[in-house]
Amino acid sequence: MKDVMVLNHPLIQHKLTLLRNKETEVKDFREIVEELSILMAYEATRDIPLKDILIETPIARTTGKIIAGPKIAIVAILRAGLGMVDGILRLLPSAEVGHIGIYRDPETFKPFSYYAKLPQDIAKRDVIIADPMLATGGTAVATIDYVRRFSRTNIKFICLVAAPEGIKMIRKHCKDITIYTATIDEGLNEHAYIVPGLGDAGDRLFGTK
Ligand code: URA
Repeated sequence: MKDVMVLNHPLIQHKLTLLRNKETEVKDFREIVEELSILMAYEATRDIPLKDILIETPIARTTGKIIAGPKIAIVAILRAGLGMVDGILRLLPSAEVGHIGIYRDPETFKPFSYYAKLPQDIAKRDVIIADPMLATGGTAVATIDYVRRFSRTNIKFICLVAAPEGIKMIRKHCKDITIYTATIDEGLNEHAYIVPGLGDAGDRLFGTK
C-alpha cells in the first residue's frame, strides 16, 4: 500500500459526526453520505494531472489548464458503496461505474463474490473503489484483486471509516493502493463491526433495519 490519507477537513469531520449519531434518520444519512463522498472525491483527486490548452476569454487569448486524463472508473462495492457513487459522479461526471457484489460470511467474515461488472475499458482507466466502511479488509482486498485482473492502473480506495485491521490487511496484500478515509477508528468488535463506527452502513443507507 502506498499511503493512508486521513481527510481531516472540518466539513468532512462535522458530517462524519452527523453520520455516526444513531439518531440520524435514513434520509439525512443518505444525503450526508453523498455530501461526504463529494468532499472525499475532491480531496482524492488533488493529484490528477493537468495539461495546458489555449483558449480565448471575452478579453484575451490565454492558456488554461484542463484535466489531462486518464479517464476514471468508480467501482462500488455493493451494497453500501452505492451510497457514494452519486457524490463522486457529481465531481467526475464522465466516470464509468462498475459494481462488485461481495458479502461477508456472518460466521467466518470471509468474503464471497456473487456479482461483478466492470467498465469494458477499465484497463485504460484509473480506478476509485468506494465502500463507506473498511472493516476487516477482506472485501476490499478481494475487490482490489478482482480489479487487478483487468487493470494495472492507479487504484484509490475511498471509505468514510477505516479500522486499523482493514488498513493492515490492505497494506499486507496490496502494495500500490492509496486509501482515503475520514477517520481511523479504534478497531473491530466480535461481530467485525467498526468501533465506534457508525453501525451497518448498508442498513442505515437503505433503511433495512
Ligand atoms: N460494515 C459496516 O457497514 N459497518 C461496520 O462497522 C463494518 C462493516
